[in-house]
Amino acid sequence: MPIINRESSRVFFILYRLAEMGACNNTIKVSTASFAKEVGLSQQSASRLLIKLERMGLIHRTATNEGSFIRISKDGESLLRRVYLGLGAIFEGKAPSVVVEGRVFSGLGEGAYYISKEPYRRQFIEKLGFDPYPGTLNLKITREENARLRMELDAYSGIEIQGFKNKDRTYGPVKCFHAIINDDVKGAVVFALRSHYGKDVLEIIAPVYLRGHFGLKDGDKVKVEILL
Ligand code: CDP
Repeated sequence: MPIINRESSRVFFILYRLAEMGACNNTIKVSTASFAKEVGLSQQSASRLLIKLERMGLIHRTATNEGSFIRISKDGESLLRRVYLGLGAIFEGKAPSVVVEGRVFSGLGEGAYYISKEPYRRQFIEKLGFDPYPGTLNLKITREENARLRMELDAYSGIEIQGFKNKDRTYGPVKCFHAIINDDVKGAVVFALRSHYGKDVLEIIAPVYLRGHFGLKDGDKVKVEILL
């Protein structure tokens, strides 16, 4: 959600105040009267905005006689993280990015099959600026790290590689982000929107054969800086 007008800036401000009050990790109880005072709005406006946040899917809310029980949703957190990363970029003077570490593992050899499909390959060259080595380097990441990462990445649209059809089947769309592998090689992370892998996996493509370049074997740690 871009923060572009008065209404959406209010929505964002309310979300931010709720986060400050602890609603990111917990369900908090707020009475409309005290909350309105807290955010400097009339009770009517505060209540209307809370309803709006709920409709926008930014918070979960249960209204009772004593007040509302509120918790920021996954989408709400993702919006806050986007602003957080943006501010980090402004103050640290570099493009927003997230760093993840994972361990190499072998898959079923399907990466090569997909990456070398011409309609995908053409788009990788055009949109990412490199011709990928035919395959994906699979990295296993921890569940916690994965949950955090998805939340951060969900707020960004990334680079979309369109799906296509041939006479046998359909190939789904893929979302990518530029990435720097082990502070050295420029590649990308790819998320097949219908992946056969469990979710705690990152798939990397690069113009070079990464196992060869870094002398990697299964179980080795790899650092990936994902550029947002
Ligand atoms: O799915 P699986 O791990 O079997 O392999 P693949 O995606 O078909 O890729 C073939 C091999 O190249 C695997 O061992 C990948 O780990 C590796 N690879 C690499 O080292 N660097 C790349 N840029 C892409 C794949």
